[in-house]
Amino acid sequence: MAGRFPPGWLDELRERADIVQVVSRYVQLTPKSGRYWGLCPFHGEKTASFSVNPQRQMYYCFGCHAGGSAINFVMEMEHLEFKDAVKLLAEQVHMELPEMIGGREDAASRSEKERIYEANKQCARFFHGQLWKKENEQVLAYLYNRGLDDSVIRTFGLGSTPLRSDGATQAMRSLGFTDDELVRAGISVRRDGRIYDMFRRRAIFPIIDAQGRVLGFGGRALGDVKPKYLNTGDTPVFNKRLGVFAANLLKKQRGLKRIILVEGYMDVIALTQAGVPGVCATLGTALTIEQARMLKRYAPEIWVSYDGDAAGQHAILRALEIFDQEGIKSRVLDFPGGMDPDEYIREYGVQAMETLEPMEATAYRMKQEMAGHDLSSQEGRTAYAIACAKYLAKVKEPVELENYVRQLMLATGFTRDVLLAQIGRTEMITQEKRSVYRHAARPLEEKNEGVSTGAAEAEKRLLQLLAEGLIEPGTVAAEDFITSERRELAKKLLDGQTVGAILEEMTDEEQRARAASILNRDSGAAQDDKLRMAGDCLRILHNVRIEERIAALKQDMASQKGEDKRKTLMKIQELMKDRQKAGRKE
Ligand code: UTP
Ligand code: MN
Repeated sequence: MAGRFPPGWLDELRERADIVQVVSRYVQLTPKSGRYWGLCPFHGEKTASFSVNPQRQMYYCFGCHAGGSAINFVMEMEHLEFKDAVKLLAEQVHMELPEMIGGREDAASRSEKERIYEANKQCARFFHGQLWKKENEQVLAYLYNRGLDDSVIRTFGLGSTPLRSDGATQAMRSLGFTDDELVRAGISVRRDGRIYDMFRRRAIFPIIDAQGRVLGFGGRALGDVKPKYLNTGDTPVFNKRLGVFAANLLKKQRGLKRIILVEGYMDVIALTQAGVPGVCATLGTALTIEQARMLKRYAPEIWVSYDGDAAGQHAILRALEIFDQEGIKSRVLDFPGGMDPDEYIREYGVQAMETLEPMEATAYRMKQEMAGHDLSSQEGRTAYAIACAKYLAKVKEPVELENYVRQLMLATGFTRDVLLAQIGRTEMITQEKRSVYRHAARPLEEKNEGVSTGAAEAEKRLLQLLAEGLIEPGTVAAEDFITSERRELAKKLLDGQTVGAILEEMTDEEQRARAASILNRDSGAAQDDKLRMAGDCLRILHNVRIEERIAALKQDMASQKGEDKRKTLMKIQELMKDRQKAGRKE
């Protein structure tokens, strides 16, 4: 997983995918003067300002300045991370994924991880085997008692600890694992110089990732022993903040419409057994951004279904916040009576699930907020309206907003206009419509770092000439550029990177917009005129440099006397000559 795609391979991918074809899957394009034009998918517009440049393999919107390569485009449209966008494109053009280069891990830690994965896998098999042994029948009975059948037990690879306190350790040793490896995997623990199994007298729930690797285990006590669940701690392959229980099953269920995110191992298992697809759990910890990003790849929507206690409700609000941040649509599926999903299904059966309506995130927040205010007092109603207005300011769809505003009118007695004003009604129509899109049409801020407009234009023109690839090597150097951002761009073009590759590297959207707005344009020079144009630009930049030095020297001169002053003046005169010379050249 770690590491980078080889640049040559990415170049080939961009070429084979062809940006015109990629964009055409989402936007209707019309050819005009060497480019393709369409309505920008990133901001609302009625006339086409979105262009695709097939020579440079890039897109650029003149309205909102969104720009980038085919890979950037797929990332934005599909809400994918770089690696996944690359994988998607590679799949579409039937390119095999390459060996990654320069991963952060060295070979030693990679092979250590491999050993731990292997130990975990063998150990999961061992635990599962133990479950069917007479001597462990108590554990199997516990699982049956909780309503599980053999089939779901196999699906999740559930298991049992062995009778002996070092049974798993012994079994793993006999498979060739060292004590050190077993301790690092979290399978065994050292105490007083002896080594024991980490899990004792428990039902075992293996935690398996999307690649099918066993990351660790949860162990459920059979009775009232504390802790109720014992989990593998942090190991080189397992981190609770990253792992999700049943990620392996999500991967297998294609085309999920939504994921149901629950709290517990047993909730996932009970719902899955009842035939509910797309269920997984964070392992008793608060949802993390990493987990959210991972989940969003499997379904367009996530329903959060944590326990109904205070801690659970707080965790739901946090999770909604994270999903919002990550641009993931989320809802809340509340099980009545403070039951967890496992208890609910066992009590009412899976058909009852269908009577549960998932609540929109905003509706849930408003409901939670209501509990904190006394709506029988004017003060309470006012505070409630203000709190809800904050949530409602984020609602994108006008029709959705309208519904919430009506609810709020009923709850607080304020008029629609007053509530809309509180929410930000004045800009609401235009602004809200625009915020549906990632970017609004806007002017582009330039970064000229204090150089004159003429110099800025010269730098841009040079970059365009470089991108057109018709300047002879050695004519232009990165050092000719005065502003640092454009100097970096020049360096990359001179290094032979393609425009697409350069844009992709830029994670800062503003920076990418600036680069795209330059590289998207043609220099405008006729073929045989390009060198002369480059010469003109270089002269302008050269003179700007000289002007700068002259200005600095003049400043020095002001405080100088006698010989020093004379020397400085001579330097200035030299420079002025140099400047004229440059002007006359050619
Ligand atoms: P719960 O306490 O809600 O348990 O913890 P549960 O899932 O309903 O368990 P059952 O039904 O009694 O068997 C939710 C989740 O929090 C983690 C586990 O992942 C558990 O599934 N947890 C809980 C622990 O890791 N350790 C604990 O001691 C308790
Ligand atoms: Mn439970």
